[in-house]
Amino acid sequence: MNQIAIFDTTLRDGEQAPGCSMTLDEKVRMARQIESLGVAVIEAGFPISSDGDFAAVRAVARQCRDTAVAALCRVSAADITRAAHALEAAVHPRLHTFVATSDLHLQFKLHKTRDEVLEMTRRAVRLAKSYVGEVEFSAEDATRSDVDYLCAVLEVAVSEGASVINIPDTVGYATPADYACLIRTVRERVVRGRAVTISVHCHNDLGLAVANTLAGLDEGARQVECTINGIGERAGNAALEEIVMACAVRADRLPFTTGIRTEGLYPTSQLLSQIIGFAVQPNKAIVGRNAFAHEAGIHQHGVLSNPLTYEIMTPASVGVPENHLVLGKHSGRHALARRYEQLGASLSSSELETVYERFVALADQKKNIFDGDLLDIVRPARVRAQ
Ligand code: KIV
Ligand code: ZN
Repeated sequence: MNQIAIFDTTLRDGEQAPGCSMTLDEKVRMARQIESLGVAVIEAGFPISSDGDFAAVRAVARQCRDTAVAALCRVSAADITRAAHALEAAVHPRLHTFVATSDLHLQFKLHKTRDEVLEMTRRAVRLAKSYVGEVEFSAEDATRSDVDYLCAVLEVAVSEGASVINIPDTVGYATPADYACLIRTVRERVVRGRAVTISVHCHNDLGLAVANTLAGLDEGARQVECTINGIGERAGNAALEEIVMACAVRADRLPFTTGIRTEGLYPTSQLLSQIIGFAVQPNKAIVGRNAFAHEAGIHQHGVLSNPLTYEIMTPASVGVPENHLVLGKHSGRHALARRYEQLGASLSSSELETVYERFVALADQKKNIFDGDLLDIVRPARVRAQ
């Protein structure tokens, strides 16, 4: 009941973001790494969008043996057929067909009536079901759609055999309370106890993607669409590593099993960052350079005595080699003495006092203190203390 499927869309929604494109080989490398995390589904691309995307989906489909591979397609027959061909070699293929349901998108983008979109949905899911056993349907811009109409479209998708219905917050507009309410409505009015999985897909325009995702889980969603490092259109998608660790660390409040090998999170984040040449922001939760770094003296002292004082998860649990005591002007004597020990120089208390004074003076002038700087200031201090 509380098992959630992690649907990774780094290679599709993530790759759509400016500056995040990947070559076929890079996608295959990423897919291998993401599969090793234990995700349930990898969305490998949007085959109709280009020959490159088609080839990448085909290559990922050939390679992934355990994880389901999804391909995105609009509701046109050409899109669906192309996506189905790209998935031919997949062990667990999934067609993911989508159409917008908000009046705004119907009027200004699709130029279709509500009835027309309803019929397009019916035909699309029926055709997709003729190719594969597992069909997911997404109602793009669901959070800005008329809820009665949204439920009517989802009902058609389910009646044609979609086993996963996805409720995207395409433009990151929802608040957690709104989103929870929408997921509850879909569960009560569309799913009604049938074997249909509700999926959540949240964008981060207001910085609420992860909060909205978790609110959706509380209301019964059991598939989460997310990306490594939260890459994705505009402000990105919900970050996989944040959702997984929220469930792991706060199992008391979020009692969901993700099946993710959490020690692989940091290596996966690093690999993606190297491939796309996009640095992770230093203060990014879970995988940022500063996520396990401590500079303030009080914090460093606490962490040296017991890491639990300032860390709610161990660095090792997410694959970060160790916590990192950053030496800067906020650091104290404990961290300084520890760093000298690591450099092979155990200081007596009088030496430490002298070195500490020099260190503070230097740290006032320099942002980063390197090991070389520490060795430079210890030598004269030792000489003076003797
Ligand atoms: O954000 C969105 O609406 C999407 C759909 C195509 C699922 O990415
Ligand atoms: Zn999206």
